[in-house]
Amino acid sequence: MKSIVEPLKYEKEILKLLDQRLLPLEEVYMTAKTIEDCYRAIQDMVVRGAPLIGFTGIWGMALFLKNNPKVVQPQFEQAAEYLKSARPTAVNLAYEIDRCVEMAKKETHLSALYPKLVQHALNEMNNSYEKNLAMAKFAEIELQKIYGDRPLNLMTICNTGTLACGVLGTALGVIVHMNQQKKVKEVYASETRPYLQGSRLTSFELIKEGIDHKIVVEGAASYLMKNKMVDAIFAGADRIVENGDTANKVGTSSLSIIAKYYGIPFFIVAPVSSFDLSLKTGDQIEIELRDQNEILKYKDNYIAHPDAKALNPSFDVTDHSCITGILCENGAINPVTVENVRKMAGSR
Ligand code: MRU
Repeated sequence: MKSIVEPLKYEKEILKLLDQRLLPLEEVYMTAKTIEDCYRAIQDMVVRGAPLIGFTGIWGMALFLKNNPKVVQPQFEQAAEYLKSARPTAVNLAYEIDRCVEMAKKETHLSALYPKLVQHALNEMNNSYEKNLAMAKFAEIELQKIYGDRPLNLMTICNTGTLACGVLGTALGVIVHMNQQKKVKEVYASETRPYLQGSRLTSFELIKEGIDHKIVVEGAASYLMKNKMVDAIFAGADRIVENGDTANKVGTSSLSIIAKYYGIPFFIVAPVSSFDLSLKTGDQIEIELRDQNEILKYKDNYIAHPDAKALNPSFDVTDHSCITGILCENGAINPVTVENVRKMAGSR
């Protein structure tokens, strides 16, 4: 399956990361040669989106072994902790790196793990298309139960497509799939301040897919829903905890609250690797606070007074009571209850 864009590619044993900070105007790849390169690429958001951050984590651990073939287990685990700290909210990073550590525990000599990690990273990425497609098909079934087969107005936030997942995508994958089934009337992409994942990245992908859409500012959500311009909303997830509370890009929670007020179905779409049952409620999720200059400046230019201060939480937590359903590769969680979340998390 040929992707519309490759956010991460491994060519002739070289790892190349598409610099998403420059999209949509420039498509430039940076070469990652070390675990530090991967750490910086994740932290500076050269790569972003929970699944892609996770894949980059595996590559980072592979590069660590490639450059340090004589390391022993404690050093490997130390490197894992370092890489996991690049961004705290998306559980996929820790999940994928912890799996690398588990693989390491089975080796007598860690040098043997390098080719296995490379293969593991390639497999994980290759398998994710089928998983994303399965989520999209479960979403289609949920929508069909509510609306039958009529074309729908769908809304999304942030970027959850190929740029975030390496292939198709989660919430955006649903929209692409629904469009292929000729079941999409209009798409609204929330611009997603301050990093503009919606207007820079989601719109870029929708244009490449040939899907008509409109970018809307965050504050337009209530206008759209009050005027019956949205039939359903799909968002991704960075971490889903035991009661179904879900961390995702800041602004997702307010979207879900407005949707509940107007009675509009609000769905989370995520792989089972996004579940973290070690946390009971969303209050326990660490929310990443990013640099205030992401808000105060656009590129190098101030768009606020140079003396102004800003608070920049990168994520928020959507309460499970505002989520109609959670769609995973192994099925749909609807209603969102502790029992149903546990069952789905146990299916991985
Ligand atoms: O800060 P970002 O761009 O990494 O945030 C991305 C999101 O919040 C996505 O919705 C989430 O990671 C799911 S991506 C399939």
